[in-house]
Amino acid sequence: HSLKKFNTFGVEASCDQFFRFHHERDIQDWLAGLPIPKEKFFVLGGGSNLLLLNHIPLTFMQADIQGIRYEDKGESVIVHAGAGVNWHELVMDTLDKGYSGLENLSLIPGNVGAAPIQNIGAYGVELEQRFVSLRAVDLYSGACKTFLHDDCQFGYRDSIFKRELRGQYVITEVQLKLDKKPELVLTYGPLKVLSKQKQVLTAKDVSNEVIRVRQSKLPDPEKLGNAGSFFKNPVVNQQQYNNLKIRYPDLVAYPVGNDAFKLAAGWLIDKAGLKGYRHGDAGVHQQQALVLVNHGNATGEDILNLAAYVRDTVKTEFDVELEPEVWIIGEQQVFS
Ligand code: EPU
Repeated sequence: HSLKKFNTFGVEASCDQFFRFHHERDIQDWLAGLPIPKEKFFVLGGGSNLLLLNHIPLTFMQADIQGIRYEDKGESVIVHAGAGVNWHELVMDTLDKGYSGLENLSLIPGNVGAAPIQNIGAYGVELEQRFVSLRAVDLYSGACKTFLHDDCQFGYRDSIFKRELRGQYVITEVQLKLDKKPELVLTYGPLKVLSKQKQVLTAKDVSNEVIRVRQSKLPDPEKLGNAGSFFKNPVVNQQQYNNLKIRYPDLVAYPVGNDAFKLAAGWLIDKAGLKGYRHGDAGVHQQQALVLVNHGNATGEDILNLAAYVRDTVKTEFDVELEPEVWIIGEQQVFS
């Protein structure tokens, strides 16, 4: 089964089998009918954070469960959204209804079900700040389980579903807490200026600005294959930070807790001279060096080779290790 249409890099790849479900019950029925021992699964969301390599010998499944429902809680509202709802459509729906909380996360590609897995984040907000719970089906027992915030062990672009529970559950519904009275987060650089431009700012204004900034830097996967930031922003200690700051006074870094600094990986790649670099159809994006792009016919391997080249160049120049943020899925996990 071809996966070309199911990954935003737009690379050619395939899997053993592919199943799509529209109801939680259908997943359970299907699992109950499978022979034992059960095969290994890969749960696909919107395919916007994946690099697929050739043939992947797994059964792919997708929970294309729709539906958005609001539950009034007085000053707040809980939104229940099906895993297959497009993330940005959910954000727009909440804002149209007058509820705030997700505005900074506007225009992030992908589906609702994938959002908690990597704790999506942008412009000063992470999903976990709004997360209440999720429902998931255990792919081995078929049982339904609710995960509360602490069960998910959220971190920076991370959760238990990327680690210990990888491949074990398919998320079917996510519940998020929204506000009726907006508490806007305007701490992130480009949003700071907003409050100076207008007396009364709405969540929709913030969303519009986020959309504008994203569209100016991040390529639209429909036009240029990509999976957003390819690497995570690396964290270094005070000593490493000091050494780098002496050599590069314009280093972009943010303190994170004691003795640690998060560096802008995009800045490192850019400074290493790789912005706009291209090898065949695999390239480093011209507007945002943290994004790798498929100019047309790149394969997963081409993009992986480019990623290794970027990582090695940054290592040589700054002695900093870049770690992929996208999931690299192949016959084996490879990034060495
Ligand atoms: N920068 C450069 N050159 C570049 C790219 C960036 O100098 O080519 C500098 C920028 O000028 C800025 C800094 O690096 O000072 C940070 O850049 P930006 O604000 O674009 O954010 P980022 O750190 O590159 C992160 C997230 C994005 C998220 C933005 C906004 C990660 C890995 N990436 O990117 O998330 O949208 O912040 O919050 O944390 C994603 O996860 O796919 C993603 C796009």
